[in-house]
Amino acid sequence: MKEKKTQFASRLGVIAVMVGTAVGLGNIWRFPYEAGANGGAAFMLLNFVLVFLLGVPLICGEFIIGRGSGVNVRQAFARLGGKNRGWGLVGYIGIASSVLILSFYSVIAGWTIEYFVESITGFSGATTTVELHENFERFVSSDWRPVMWTWIFLGCNFLILIRGVQKGIERLSSIFMPVLFLLLIVFCIHSLMLPEAGEGLKFLFAPDFSCLTPKVVLSAMGQVFFSLSLGLGALITYASYFKQETPLVKTAAVTAILDLLIAILAGVIIFPAVFSFHQEPTAGPRLVFEVLPSIFVGMPYGQVWAALFFLLLFLASLTSTLSMFEIFVAYLEQEFGLSRFKAVSVNLLIALVLSALCSASFGTLSGFRIFGLTIFELFDNFTSNILLPIGGLLIALFVGWKLPKSLVMKELEKGTRLQGGAPGRSGSSFVNEAILLSLRYFAPLCILLIFLWGLLKP
Ligand code: PHE
Repeated sequence: MKEKKTQFASRLGVIAVMVGTAVGLGNIWRFPYEAGANGGAAFMLLNFVLVFLLGVPLICGEFIIGRGSGVNVRQAFARLGGKNRGWGLVGYIGIASSVLILSFYSVIAGWTIEYFVESITGFSGATTTVELHENFERFVSSDWRPVMWTWIFLGCNFLILIRGVQKGIERLSSIFMPVLFLLLIVFCIHSLMLPEAGEGLKFLFAPDFSCLTPKVVLSAMGQVFFSLSLGLGALITYASYFKQETPLVKTAAVTAILDLLIAILAGVIIFPAVFSFHQEPTAGPRLVFEVLPSIFVGMPYGQVWAALFFLLLFLASLTSTLSMFEIFVAYLEQEFGLSRFKAVSVNLLIALVLSALCSASFGTLSGFRIFGLTIFELFDNFTSNILLPIGGLLIALFVGWKLPKSLVMKELEKGTRLQGGAPGRSGSSFVNEAILLSLRYFAPLCILLIFLWGLLKP
């Protein structure tokens, strides 16, 4: 086996990059509006259950493939899949998903830069909800400004990625993630002190199960996949940089818990504000870009709060897109022997073109629809609700049924007290068995059922 040269330097660094990929627009932008549109607390509870029953085992599954092979997502399946070459295709699905997600994700990330700047300049003088709505519409549908920010955002990724995995991705995540966490806490405290915070918390925490339709359950699963960066090989790629002593289950659990916690914190920040200022929680993707600014402008030091909030969104997005890039970059480097600079450049060029199309689908191309969806909506729905669950299903089947049980258990035991075949006295051997059971039966069945149910009965 080829010797691995690229590795993350420290345990804390691993947690920072893992939380970095997981925490992003998915938690702070997507989760609140999905929860808002799908009944609040019931959606959140479902999300919670799925994170542990499906999310953690699947994260472990990706880790096992990544560290077990030590290579990029395409070669990992080919290498571990033995003679059956069909498995190599799973890697290509992952690479395709990463390119598509990066394209639409960068557009929203670009908006965060515009809104950071607008916060400082006072939202072009807009103060009422109507004015802020018009301001948002004018911006997203204009020709060059959103594309410019999207490209600047992609440029930031480029500058970090060419520095390498340790000096670029790991170092940056280790600095940004604690800053992000601190900012979130400050916002939370602030939100909880608002006059009608209780209403917002009730919406977020008191479930109404009549909201749980098949479409809501499918959206919740899509959200779990998206938020944990699952099903496309981001975690396979990162795990190929893990050291042998990195404990997989613990890392997976910490990532999932922090990701969930941050989504809840985002809800705690947003809904009390929405209710206190009499806004609609079901505003959809516009929620953080229209509703929040209307709240900020009415607050003391509103500009500072707004700027901080959009800075937070920008940082969270950046650490996520780094991992999307890394999937294709690692593949190009290892499969074609490209230098890191060239590999990052190829990915950047593709992203520049596709993201411009996604951005234009809010303006010039808004009439261009496939299956009734704009390019942006198509990329978003097709990846989160279809490609990622299919990827997840195949990953679960691959680890559960194709890989030898001995390899799976060995990977799960590395770095824990069970290592070296010590008799399983602690709870961790039970946990490892449960993870394998989920990957064999629960995860594939659950994904398949929710998937078919959601597609057939929208
Ligand atoms: N998990 C990220 C978020 O919540 C999005 C993401 C998806 C990142 C897929 C990498 C891969 O924003």
